[in-house]
Amino acid sequence: MKSELRQRDAWRNLEEHFEQTKGHLLRELFANDPARATRFSAEAEGIYLDYSKNRVTSETMALLFELARESGLETRRDAMFKGEHINVSEDRAVLHIALRLPAGASLVVDDVDVVSQVHDVLARMTDFANRVRSGDWKGATGKPIKNVVNVGIGGSDLGPVMAYEALRYYSKRDLTFRFVSNVDSTDFVEAVRDLSPDETLFIISSKTFTTLETLTNAQSARDWVTSALGTDAVAHHFVAVSTNEKLVTTFGIDTKNMFGFWDWVGGRYSMDSAIGLSTMLAIGPELFAELLAGFHAMDEHFRTAPLEKNLPVLMGLIGLWNRDFLGCPSVGVMPYEQYLKRLPAYLQQLTMESNGKHVTLRGGEIDYDTGALYWGEPGTNGQHSFYQLIHQGTTIVPVDLIGFAQSLNPLGRHHDILSSNVFAQAEALAFGKTEEEVRAEGTPEHVVAHRVMQGNRPTNVLLCEVLTPRLLGSLVALYEHVVFTQGAIWGVDSFDQWGVELGKVLAVRIIPELESSDEPELHHDSSTNELIKRYRALKRNDHDAGS
Ligand code: F6P
Repeated sequence: MKSELRQRDAWRNLEEHFEQTKGHLLRELFANDPARATRFSAEAEGIYLDYSKNRVTSETMALLFELARESGLETRRDAMFKGEHINVSEDRAVLHIALRLPAGASLVVDDVDVVSQVHDVLARMTDFANRVRSGDWKGATGKPIKNVVNVGIGGSDLGPVMAYEALRYYSKRDLTFRFVSNVDSTDFVEAVRDLSPDETLFIISSKTFTTLETLTNAQSARDWVTSALGTDAVAHHFVAVSTNEKLVTTFGIDTKNMFGFWDWVGGRYSMDSAIGLSTMLAIGPELFAELLAGFHAMDEHFRTAPLEKNLPVLMGLIGLWNRDFLGCPSVGVMPYEQYLKRLPAYLQQLTMESNGKHVTLRGGEIDYDTGALYWGEPGTNGQHSFYQLIHQGTTIVPVDLIGFAQSLNPLGRHHDILSSNVFAQAEALAFGKTEEEVRAEGTPEHVVAHRVMQGNRPTNVLLCEVLTPRLLGSLVALYEHVVFTQGAIWGVDSFDQWGVELGKVLAVRIIPELESSDEPELHHDSSTNELIKRYRALKRNDHDAGS
């Protein structure tokens, strides 16, 4: 029997509609409708979204809005904003939206006003950031802090590093920032090799404070500091960001040097919580407040704008159309802004950890496609590498092209050259080049087929004025709510991540098998056993003992 979603009238109508319209070409759709660009565009919070170069008609959009309504998107959205426990598998509220509510607002969840909690932590973060930035906070030898190293992984790394890179223009340049995430010792060693312990502050960022990679790196950081400065130095050189007071204390960080958040903030939704401490240290509390205001403005847009003009809903629905009806397995995100170079990696966790799910909220098996693969690189670099496949490959890759009208570092003609590529790529992908056009250029016959560009390849263009902290907040919140929109319709829990657990458990079992000085008895499958044996032999530099 088909799932609930596939039995919905709107879904069935969309299937039928897809069959009727799948031969439509964007060339024809544009030729037949001179107002297409204005009809299929929307704007909010400084982001102009042109979705006209997607394979949709007014009827497609109407059916998609119907699907959103039939699937209860608005009810679920309102439930999130009210603090209901919509993360059912973990029985938690999902309240990243509360992290950016202005002071004075109120949101009572499980009998607690979470907004005042949020602003208490923000006030402590502000005080701390001001002390470090002014040189008032001293290291163990009395020197001010020059280097900040964030130690965390996943949501406790990707948000901080993405935001630092994105807002580097606004950052305090006499502070050096490093981000250590990988348990590969090279990450830590390279991050600190040119730093002095007495001028370095570590922020140990971990929601749970149980993550093996982070705790291993934190321990190495602690050893690095204490071997140079003694154990008393920990209080001067370590702060923690976590929800787990007990384990922070066990690690040896005093809770007065801890900045908390709450179980209702998912790791991948936490860059605007205390996990953003490195961001606040980099850009200062005032610009951090602007970042939060940008998030909040997009939250309000998502909460109140009609579906037909609602940016996250529009992008979410188009993404779902491309995924479930056009059958596109991936989405490319290409920011034409060098400062956003880590945005695709950030969005990978946000989208794929959220909607990479195969069961519904009630545990039913899913018979439609959910989360797409997200990937990307800043433009124009990608154009000289993988765009070939996007233009002429056999897989259709819908692309979000993110452009800005102004550069933060204007230099000669650079910015117009960069931006011309945003528009040119969208144009080329949509309209391609026909056989006749290729021939008309005098192309030798044997090359004609190679030079034909089918076109009809979907893009969204997001055009903004200039990258500011506020704009970054709105842009990230936009994608958060795109994820929400799709998750609500797919009926999945976008806020858990059980899929990452098994690998972690198995690794913990394997660690002693790699470390043991005696040959361990292995009880895995033959492939895993063989790989472990070979690794142990190579580790001993004993090349014959592998098999
Ligand atoms: O393994 C996945 C994950 O749990 C992510 O969801 C999370 O962002 C990351 O690990 C880090 O977790 P923590 O902040 O608890 O160290």
